[in-house]
Amino acid sequence: MIEGWVEYREVNRALRDLVDSIDSIDEVKDALKHIISAGGKRTRPVIALLSGELCGGGKEDVMNVALAVELIHTASLAHDDVIDRGVMRRNVETLHVKYDTAIAILVGDWLISKSIELVSIYSEEVIRDFARIGMLMAEGEILDVYSTKKEFGEKEYFRCIESKTASLFAFSAESACKIVSEDRKAVEKMYEYGNNLGIAYQLVDDLLEYLEILEDKKSEFESRTLPMIYEEKYGYEEAVERTLEHIRSYSERSVESLDYFDDCESKEKLLKMVEYMTTSLLKNYVMKNRESEVLELLEKYC
Ligand code: IPE
Ligand code: MG
Repeated sequence: MIEGWVEYREVNRALRDLVDSIDSIDEVKDALKHIISAGGKRTRPVIALLSGELCGGGKEDVMNVALAVELIHTASLAHDDVIDRGVMRRNVETLHVKYDTAIAILVGDWLISKSIELVSIYSEEVIRDFARIGMLMAEGEILDVYSTKKEFGEKEYFRCIESKTASLFAFSAESACKIVSEDRKAVEKMYEYGNNLGIAYQLVDDLLEYLEILEDKKSEFESRTLPMIYEEKYGYEEAVERTLEHIRSYSERSVESLDYFDDCESKEKLLKMVEYMTTSLLKNYVMKNRESEVLELLEKYC
């Protein structure tokens, strides 16, 4: 769906140009080509471009921040794969498997530094926000790593996913608005859009991983997530239902925050983005797994 959007194509073109023009040592260039050309959904930079347009700017005004959010996200994936010992990412081998752990860590550091260079053209406020998001993402990842070793209930789970995932979606939408508009109410609405969408998306991701574990598709899991917390309290069916209810409610809040804006193409696409990152992912799972017992619950939701 979003692959056909002009914003998606422009993000990919800009990323390709960035990789082609990198003046660095071969180790960095090779690893960057590997991880960036592997693709990914590009949801964060596409949200940044659409938010900039919705708030009255052009794509060129916010392209640097769009690239910055994709690069810091890519760095977090490289580091996360070292932490979790993940072997495949975006359908290709992870950096630490293809090269080694040192390369994965250092290329992650390189990407974070590059993303700071990209946002440095904006206001002090945007640069400071970006710095804070980097800290929050690291804090969220730390909470995630310790989730199986410490008391980790519903409250801790939401704090973790808001920091590690939602904060960057919130920044992608909010900062693009800040860059092109003086309307503080619009900035607030875009923050809510991104934050609630980020929470809903991580809930979907965790629910799908939980269902795969239930079906024995994955033998190893590393973090404690909401469906697991609920399963202990309510059993697995109600765990799935309750998680779906949260997905519905956060998606709705994300959608509602766009009520503030007049109807236009970029608003339409931002609304579609919510569907793409929640219901569509759940539907895909349902289509691929006709035999599962929990399908009825999912089908009710989809
Ligand atoms: C993966 O992010 C980590 C999560 C927040 C679930 P994405 O699902 O956005 O990964 P790519 O960029 O599309 O590969
Ligand atoms: Mg992880």
